[in-house]
Amino acid sequence: MASSILAAALLLAPVLGAPAPQVTIPASFGPDSQVSASVQPSTSGYRVEVLVNGYTSATYHGPYTGTPTTIGAVPGPTTLAASIPPQPLNPTATYYNTEGVPLNPMPAPFTPAGGLGTNGSLPRYMVNSDFDFESIALGLYQEWIELDLFHDGLARFTDEQFTAAGLGPEARSLIEFMANQETGHATLLTNMLGERAPKQCVYNYPYTTVREWVDFMQRLTRFGESGVWGFINHLDSREVGQLLAQSIATEARQQQIFRQMSGLTPMDVWFENGWPQSWSWTMLAPYVSYCPENTTRLAWQNFPTLHILNNANINRYSPNDTAQDGSETVGPRIADPSRSNITTGSCENLNVTGYGCGPAVAHNKSEPLSFPGKKILFQWEAPGSAVGPNNSYVTSTSAGAPKFVGWSQQLNLTYSPLTVTGNNSGYTYQPEGYVYDNDGIINGTMAVMLTDLDLYVTPFNTSMLNPHIVALGLYQAG
Ligand SMILES: *[C@@H]1O[C@H](CO)[C@@H](O)[C@H](O)[C@H]1NC(C)=O
Ligand SMILES: *[C@@H]1O[C@H](CO)[C@@H](O)[C@H](O)[C@H]1NC(C)=O
Ligand SMILES: *[C@@H]1O[C@H](CO)[C@@H](O)[C@H](O)[C@H]1NC(C)=O
Ligand SMILES: *[C@@H]1O[C@H](CO)[C@@H](O)[C@H](O)[C@H]1NC(C)=O
Ligand SMILES: *[C@@H]1O[C@H](CO)[C@@H](O)[C@H](O)[C@H]1NC(C)=O
Ligand SMILES: *[C@@H]1O[C@H](CO)[C@@H](O)[C@H](O)[C@H]1NC(C)=O
Ligand SMILES: *[C@@H]1O[C@H](CO)[C@@H](O)[C@H](O)[C@H]1NC(C)=O
Ligand SMILES: *[C@@H]1O[C@H](CO)[C@@H](O)[C@H](O)[C@H]1NC(C)=O
Ligand SMILES: *[C@@H]1O[C@H](CO)[C@@H](O)[C@H](O)[C@H]1NC(C)=O
Ligand SMILES: *[C@@H]1O[C@H](CO)[C@@H](O)[C@H](O)[C@H]1NC(C)=O
Ligand SMILES: *[C@@H]1O[C@H](CO)[C@@H](O)[C@H](O)[C@H]1NC(C)=O
Repeated sequence: MASSILAAALLLAPVLGAPAPQVTIPASFGPDSQVSASVQPSTSGYRVEVLVNGYTSATYHGPYTGTPTTIGAVPGPTTLAASIPPQPLNPTATYYNTEGVPLNPMPAPFTPAGGLGTNGSLPRYMVNSDFDFESIALGLYQEWIELDLFHDGLARFTDEQFTAAGLGPEARSLIEFMANQETGHATLLTNMLGERAPKQCVYNYPYTTVREWVDFMQRLTRFGESGVWGFINHLDSREVGQLLAQSIATEARQQQIFRQMSGLTPMDVWFENGWPQSWSWTMLAPYVSYCPENTTRLAWQNFPTLHILNNANINRYSPNDTAQDGSETVGPRIADPSRSNITTGSCENLNVTGYGCGPAVAHNKSEPLSFPGKKILFQWEAPGSAVGPNNSYVTSTSAGAPKFVGWSQQLNLTYSPLTVTGNNSGYTYQPEGYVYDNDGIINGTMAVMLTDLDLYVTPFNTSMLNPHIVALGLYQAG
């Protein structure tokens, strides 16, 4: 049905004086969807607009089926060394104030000396290095998928399915508003990159229910947010950092709202941490299937996937009952959501304090999603898998045999020993550790990885760990 309406619209295009559209990929919509299509004028002459359940949607979501024409992350003209060696403290990092008053002459009244971009020079809101370009280009890939993803669920699921999932018309309007925010974010990042800004792609999503969609969005916005915190203070252009901060503050709100709609504790932690670009690219790439011809490629690494076989199912009132074989994650990809159609033990429609997990402003978890001492079962992929746009990137690692499990959250990156039980399987016990007071390090939706070394890194030098990462996963604590 959907494809016949689309065909009618395509036939209309020449009648309206537009060139015949090229649609080389099929249309696919849910069986219950109400689909309509129309031809709208646009800057390139025409645009086929598809409405699914009253919301605009892309004509296709699904896997890439072609053969890639390019392979691998985009290289630089040359690569100078295998890793960055640690260096001593920067000699200018010496300021210390025991007086509590300004120590240096003030450049102007009420203007303490120092700061960057404070000397009157004209701001330039453009990326200012390869590091900036590649970071903002990654951010733009993220904004584009969010724009498509937030719309997709609204179009894919019916009003009845939303109501059954506890999300009424006002909640849907809020999600639509969040989708619209993404058009602004994508425009902003495009402008800061210039003519080679990446374009919007086609995506392949893992969810089958409203709850799985919302769960996927709380995971995707987690790596979107943390991916930016990881590089924002390393950017050469402070001006770009300023504008990016203003968009990522919004993304942080989205992440929390999706947590609430998923029935999770809205905030588990005292600090939201930053991740290196290659971590967020590893998490994002598996969901991007096609990109348009000549789309700017990225230079970041894709790590092999770390599967957490008993990652807590967020839809269980006793999350420790989650199956041990990975079957309660909807698929094998790194940020796939918890399966919501479990037959027993669901907390979705349970109105009991501490156990219910329907959409809510706040929930207490009487039985936690995970806890210190929990045995965590892993399986990991070997490097060499094709991932990302047009299957044209390849997972890789430069690490030796895995020995540790790295847990990155809050202000810390902490390790537990890995017990290897097979060539690509093993386990650890979730460690205990605190940031300040009783604020447990391991909580919320967070990055976890296998490493060959328990390298000490802190929030400003986390990327030094990359050469030691064997596989990367997304852990659901709470
Ligand atoms: C202003 O500061 C920047 C570094 O932040 C420096 O490159 C530039 O030369 C300074 N401009 C003036 C006029 O001092
Ligand atoms: C991806 O594949 C599509 C369809 O085969 C092709 O049109 C497009 O140019 C490819 N994109 C890139 C970036 O290679
Ligand atoms: C892609 O790049 C090639 C080489 O620069 C160019 O000939 C072609 O027109 C470009 N295609 C698109 C769709 O921009
Ligand atoms: C959690 O589940 C595991 C595996 O079923 C079991 O061995 C363990 O005792 C449970 N722990 C708690 C605290 O319920
Ligand atoms: C849940 O959904 C998946 C995929 O849609 C399906 O394979 C599975 O059989 C379903 N499980 C139950 C218990 O309905
Ligand atoms: C949940 O239970 C409380 C107390 O029993 C009741 O007041 C409330 O209406 C219930 N909420 C729902 C959504 O059923
Ligand atoms: C929620 O949990 C906190 C601490 O974990 C506890 O102090 C509080 O009483 C709980 N609230 C409810 C309503 O169960
Ligand atoms: C590990 O791999 C080797 C060589 O591929 C194979 O001989 C061995 O049986 C594997 N061991 C396990 C536990 O899978
Ligand atoms: C976590 O980081 C905080 C802040 O740097 C530090 O005070 C704390 O000791 C760390 N905790 C562990 C277990 O390393
Ligand atoms: C995670 O955060 C929740 C909510 O603040 C808290 O109740 C729980 O104890 C924390 N878990 C750990 C392991 O610190
Ligand atoms: C990262 O920074 C910390 C200081 O905060 C330092 O002790 C550590 O050695 C650094 N790690 C590496 C790999 O450079």
